[in-house]
Amino acid sequence: MRRTYFDNNATTPLLPEVFAAMQPALLESFGNASSIHQQGQAARAAVEQAREHVAALVGARESEIVFTSGGTEGDNLALFGLLAPGDHVITSTIEHHAVLYSCKRLEELGVEVSYIGCDRNGTVRLDELRAALRPQTRLISVMMANNETGALQPVEEIGAIAREADLWFHTDAVQAAGKVAIDVERIGCDLLTIAAHKMHGPQGVGALYVRRGTLLRPLFYGGRHERSRRAGTENLAGIVGFGKAAELAMEWIDSGGAAGMARLRDRLEQGIIAAVPGARVNGAAAPRVPNTSNIVFDGIEGEGFVIAMDLKGISVSTGAACSSGAVEPSHVLTAMGLNGDEARASIRFSLGKQNTAEEVEQLLAVVPEVVHKLREMSPAWAGKQ
Ligand SMILES: Cc1ncc(COP(=O)(O)O)c(C=O)c1O
Repeated sequence: MRRTYFDNNATTPLLPEVFAAMQPALLESFGNASSIHQQGQAARAAVEQAREHVAALVGARESEIVFTSGGTEGDNLALFGLLAPGDHVITSTIEHHAVLYSCKRLEELGVEVSYIGCDRNGTVRLDELRAALRPQTRLISVMMANNETGALQPVEEIGAIAREADLWFHTDAVQAAGKVAIDVERIGCDLLTIAAHKMHGPQGVGALYVRRGTLLRPLFYGGRHERSRRAGTENLAGIVGFGKAAELAMEWIDSGGAAGMARLRDRLEQGIIAAVPGARVNGAAAPRVPNTSNIVFDGIEGEGFVIAMDLKGISVSTGAACSSGAVEPSHVLTAMGLNGDEARASIRFSLGKQNTAEEVEQLLAVVPEVVHKLREMSPAWAGKQ
């Protein structure tokens, strides 16, 4: 069976050009980038070339890019690297767990955290943000694009608030990078997290942009790698692949690739809405990245839908996390005001550059029938009819 992949917010397939760029880094210029011999120099040159592309993707200087093991590490490095007991940080209820659980841990360590909410469309509330400011506030951490709904957050406004109040601003741009243009100067952020595997690069590598002059305590101690901000031998092949993915992502953005992707996403949404009674797009009115669609199908269990689609060769996901055997409704969707049943009945479809119009039609051909069958089996749905 030919499989179709619509779970690109979880991870994306490597582009063939990225794989081709990584091969020599694994087989030929495999040296340690800290070594002074020729293999070491070749590795160093490859790391620095990748750094140029990653810096260009976000409008930063090369010296402001710290390579990490991915989005989770970038978020942790930003938060733990800046905050100390007695500080206050403002974040939002719709952040990824890499930020939310870091904040929970920081609370245990004596940092005070305010969690601001969002509106029905999943956009954080700036009035709540302003009201949460205190003399002890050191940092604001609000994501650029939400991983479940794709909703773009008002990061430029937040950047302005942070500058006015003389605070650090960190934004988790893991789901924005490679999909929309990013410019750290326009955003006015001091730190910005990205990850290669959400933009057709390899898993296990990412970067944290750290504005020049921002004093960050490292998470790891050891060698003086990454200007003493992240000890440990560089993930050479990963970084080289990341650089190539960043270069290709920029070309794609500059050539208007996002508009084509948004058209596919819109076709997917309109096709589903037209064919499935009662289906609704979560956060439809928010500005969104072009690849993400989160749709609620009343009367179904998201997990059942994902399994039924999987059997038909199509990969999609729920926003729900399964913890200790129970399916918890998504914290993002509940923050938007959905009740537990609606959140559990929500499905995330996320497109990548590899997806085609035919694949969207293939998806549209099976979704109505799958929803219909699941609803037939649902006692809750039967009661409503
Ligand atoms: C918004 C966001 N932040 C952080 C992460 C964590 O990134 P990684 O899986 O590279 O650690 C993800 C991954 O899903 C994400 O979507």
